[in-house]
This record gives sequence, structure tokens and C-alpha cells, in this order.
Amino acid sequence: MEDKFRNKSFFISTYGCQMNEEDSEKLSGILKKMGYKRAENKLSADLIIFNTCCVRENAELKVYGNLGALKKLKKQRPELIIALCGCMMQQKGMAEKVIKKFPFVDIIFGTHNAYKFPEYLNRVNHQNVSVIEIQDKEDGIVEGVPIDRESSVKAFVTIMYGCNNFCAYCIVPYVRGRERSRKPEDIENEIKELVSKGYKEVTLLGQNVNSYGKNLNPRVNFSELLRRINNVDGIERIRFMTSHPKDLTDDVIDVISECDKICEHIHLPVQSGSTRILKKMNRNYSKEQYLALVSEIKHKIPDASITTDIIVGFPGETEEDFEETLNLAEGVEFDSAFTFIYSKREGTPAYKIEEQISDDVKHERFNRLVEVINKSAAKKNKVYEGRIEEVLVEGPSKNDSTKLMGRTRTGKLVNFQGDKAFIGELVKVEITKATSFSLLGRQI
Ligand code: SAH
Ligand code: SF4
Ligand code: F3S
Repeated sequence: MEDKFRNKSFFISTYGCQMNEEDSEKLSGILKKMGYKRAENKLSADLIIFNTCCVRENAELKVYGNLGALKKLKKQRPELIIALCGCMMQQKGMAEKVIKKFPFVDIIFGTHNAYKFPEYLNRVNHQNVSVIEIQDKEDGIVEGVPIDRESSVKAFVTIMYGCNNFCAYCIVPYVRGRERSRKPEDIENEIKELVSKGYKEVTLLGQNVNSYGKNLNPRVNFSELLRRINNVDGIERIRFMTSHPKDLTDDVIDVISECDKICEHIHLPVQSGSTRILKKMNRNYSKEQYLALVSEIKHKIPDASITTDIIVGFPGETEEDFEETLNLAEGVEFDSAFTFIYSKREGTPAYKIEEQISDDVKHERFNRLVEVINKSAAKKNKVYEGRIEEVLVEGPSKNDSTKLMGRTRTGKLVNFQGDKAFIGELVKVEITKATSFSLLGRQI
């Protein structure tokens, strides 16, 4: 432990997806090892970190907005250290652009060199200069980084980094590098350690978990990895995301239906219901192939919940294309969906397509889609009324601290009347009421 950091405090704002959340937990682990403590709030922190996202323009706008607000704080407390990291910083030319606009920022680093953060902090402390370090290429996988997790009940475990798919709209492959998988032994050991600390649930993370293991020697595929993790004693629930429809194979569906700990929930982003648009998106499956996959899942795992991501307003999307998306959503009856308005990302192939859709049309389509999704979500949730479900209790309810919240195996959020002593445990809950977004119940 380095004494000069003892009693200093840090605050991390995390934008974007679970990958970033896990990266923030690692930053937090690194900082605690250095002697830092978590700050109660941003205003009292000695070190403020923004772990940024750039998947859509509004993710970036949020960072700019919140960064602007720090200018005053830094003026009042010049010793405050402000650090920026994550996907947005990894974009070409972004660090230079940001430091020009916000010269009070002390440290900027990207997605490939977060483990070097202590070195950057030391440099800022010693030399009193801004440190900007973006590494173009990924190093190999760095194991053994300490992780300070938000939850003591469920944990994210990254099984692979990067993405090789280059969907035409998506910036992730450019800021997260090429696909690389962790060794199964390292993953198993991490999960065993989590079990020893009392964790009940793990979510295996990767941009495309179904292509896990391609760079490993000997090769281990995703369904084999799932079976191995299912054999780890003491873990109760296994989840994973994200599955890519082009790579989700029958053996993975079989593993879900056969292995007791693997939860009956598949997040299967469809992005569009029009084969023509899917082709332009470089998704490598057709509407028919997606629907066949959904039928297979419903047949083999009748209770499964299926959730998805959908983008509206991809360049060149006609009303007919969009209606195909609506039809697909109505047919599949998703349990829920993340719906996005297409956002132009510089450096991606779709950026250059000329037939961009107007904001009005995008918004109108978005609203129509949300209506369809809410309807199927409500219908899917309604089925749970009167049922008794196994719920993993995560903590107090967000909106009503007299209640508890947890999730069913299928990933449904349940708010319920129950005993706080059961936080971290699996309990039986009778579902009394359902809405589009969550379930209400009482512990039995
Ligand atoms: N690897 C995952 C998720 C990647 S990002 C996958 O392949 O599904 C999460 C979601 O953001 C994507 O599924 C997509 O729906 C959305 N997204 C990505 N780029 C976008 C863009 N430029 N505009 C709007 N939505 C986008
Ligand atoms: Fe982006 Fe496609 Fe990779 Fe997902 S699979 S991260 S949407 S490029
Ligand atoms: Fe995730 Fe955003 Fe990066 S969605 S991978 S944090 S660009």
C-alpha cells in the first residue's frame, strides 16, 4: 500500500454497458489497493473518474455536460484530480479534442491500458502535468487485477474482450479491439473465489459470447465453458450476455435446457426485422434465420425469456423495412427490449451512407416500436401473476426502501414485501401483480 494515497477518496461515474461497469469495478479495486477509499459523493472526492461510452452520440453528450460542471469544482480545489477513460477516449483524436476543450483534466487513458492507472496517478502527483496515454493496440489479457464489486450477491465475469463483427453502425470493435478469450481455468478460478465470498450469481460478459474460445489452444467453445461453470460447486445462477444470432448454436440452447444453474433467459439482439437492412448492417443472418432460432429456443426451453436490442432509423430504412421490424417484434413477443434511435458514429461504415433518416421519422418509428414492445412485455409479465417464483434477493427496492428487490431466473425484476435478513439469498415469492417493467409480490 502506498501511504501517500491513504485517506484519499475517489468517485467513479460509469457510462455505457456492463463491460464498462466491470472495468470500473477493476479501477476501484486498483485504487483501494493503493490506499484510496470510496468517496461518499463527487463533491467530496480527491479523485473523480469518468469511465466513458461512445456507442451513441448522447452517451458522449452526457460526458461533455458532466465534465463542464467540474470546471468550477477544480477551480475551488486545484488539488482535485480528474481522470477520463473508457471507450470514448479510445477513439482516434478524442483525447486531444477533450483536453483542448477541458484543459483542467489531469489524466486520460483508453480501454487497453487501464491497468497502468497507478503509474499515471503517480506521474500526475510528481510532475504536476496532464498525462494522456492512449494505447492503439490491446496487450494480451491481464489477469489478477483486483476487483472491488458493487454487489455482494451477483458478479460480472468477463470471459472475452473485444469484438470482430464490425456491424456497420457500431463503434465498439474500434474502441475495444479484437476478440480475445480468457482461459477457462482463469474464469473457473474467479468464480470459485466469488463462491467463497458468498456470491450466488455470475453473469458472463462478452460482446459476442457465442464466439468464445476461438483463440484458445486447446480450443474450448462456449457451450463447453458453460458446462464447466455449471459444475462449480456453490454457484446458484449463471447468466451470460450478449449472444449474437449468427453464432448462437444448438449446443448452447441444449446446455441451457440441460444445466440446472444456467438461467432461462437469452438476450438476443435482432437489431432489425428486415433482411435487407440486416444485410446492410452486416449482421450475417436473415429475419427467417432469427425467427427459426427463436422457435428453437421456445421449443427447447418453454419458460425462457427472450430479450433483444433494436435500432430504428438505420440509413436507408424504409417504412416497409420498419414495418417488418414491428411485425417481427409482435410475432416474437419479446419479454423486453432495449430500443435505440440510430446514431451516426464517425469511423463506422454506416457513417458514410448518404440516405440518413430524418429525426422526425426516427422518433415516430421509435415511439411505435416502444408501444409494441411494452405490450408484449406486459403480456409476458402478466403470466407470472399468481405464480410462485424463486427470487435472488439483491437488496432494498430502489423506489420503496420498505420493500426488497430481486430477480427471477428469467431475469424479471421483482419488488416484494419480505424480510431484509434474506438479502443475498434465494427465496420463494408469490407474484401478486405485473406491469410492463416489473413484478410485485410477497415472500412466502
Ligand atoms: N455486443 C452487443 C452489444 C453492443 S452495443 C451486441 O452485439 O448486441 C449495445 C447495443 O447498442 C447494440 O446491440 C445496438 O442495438 C446499439 N447500438 C450500437 N451502435 C449503435 C448506433 N450507432 N446507434 C444506435 N444504437 C446502436
Ligand atoms: Fe457492435 Fe456488432 Fe460487435 Fe455487438 S457484435 S459490439 S453490435 S460490432
Ligand atoms: Fe460499452 Fe459503450 Fe464501450 S456500450 S463497450 S461502454 S462504447
